[in-house]
Amino acid sequence: MLVKDALREAARKLTAAEAATPLLDAEILAAFTLGIERGDVLLKWDEAFAPDDLKHFNALVKRRALSEPVARITGVQEFWSLPFKVTPDTLIPRPDSETLVAAVLERTGKTSPVRILDLGTGTGCLLLALLSELPSAAGVGVDISKRTLECAFENAKNLNLSGRARFTVFDWMNDIPLNEGLFDIVISNPPYIPAGEIAGLELEVAKFAPRAALDGGPDGLDHYRRIIAKAPGFFGGKGGQIYLEIGNGQAGEVKTLLKEAGFITLEAYHDLAGKTRVVAAQFSVQTLID
Ligand SMILES: C[S@@+](CC[C@H](N)C(=O)[O-])C[C@H]1O[C@@H](n2cnc3c(N)ncnc32)[C@H](O)[C@@H]1O
Repeated sequence: MLVKDALREAARKLTAAEAATPLLDAEILAAFTLGIERGDVLLKWDEAFAPDDLKHFNALVKRRALSEPVARITGVQEFWSLPFKVTPDTLIPRPDSETLVAAVLERTGKTSPVRILDLGTGTGCLLLALLSELPSAAGVGVDISKRTLECAFENAKNLNLSGRARFTVFDWMNDIPLNEGLFDIVISNPPYIPAGEIAGLELEVAKFAPRAALDGGPDGLDHYRRIIAKAPGFFGGKGGQIYLEIGNGQAGEVKTLLKEAGFITLEAYHDLAGKTRVVAAQFSVQTLID
């Protein structure tokens, strides 16, 4: 079978399975099977698929038709135009989360020697995207899952950023201190889905994303409460900034939590769909004394 015919057939199957981007998915899986860049699939358009490759390709299309995310199949997801390894233990980086990276960059001088703490680092995508843009910055990514940290560490190495990024296990829900020094900026995309809504999410997420990356407790805000309560301690007496990714409709409640903890909201940032996706806030010891 020619590559173009296999692609058309795959796209038909994925359309029937209600994949959002059937042809794109088929092209990515074909490129992955053939070990080439997606843009080069066109060059193979009129070539025959080797029988083993075709079998492999069809097996991948079948997995995709059962809602397995493309990135879970290929093991790679692009974020901030950088390639990130993903594993079954990590959340697949989402384009919406680039809003947080853009927000930090908007407020941080290119050469600032800032120290960044990434709470719930997963693949390390937020921290590593920032370090790729801020050559004098350094950071620590923490996560409750040791296996996500192994993936983040590998991503740091692959992106030549391991000299400025450290990764360590830390659970913000318990009271064991984080002994990594003080930070200027805290970033986090914590789990924020209300527990009762997880089963109703699209299958790709409900079935394939790790529960620890989703579950925000009964109202979705459990992790914001803990992170906001702990953040001033990560800054020490000099204060600092926090950037939180939020779920739909959570901006008002998260701003209230920040205000109650003595933060001043600086700005809310919107994603490409126009939804409030990130809240940035400032903590200064002076604010508390006033
Ligand atoms: C929504 S994912 C975000 C991953 C990554 N930062 C991103 O934006 O793609 C949340 C992450 O928080 C971690 N996590 C959940 N509960 C935690 C806790 N109590 N302490 C530390 N990390 C936690 C999860 O393992 C997961 O990697």
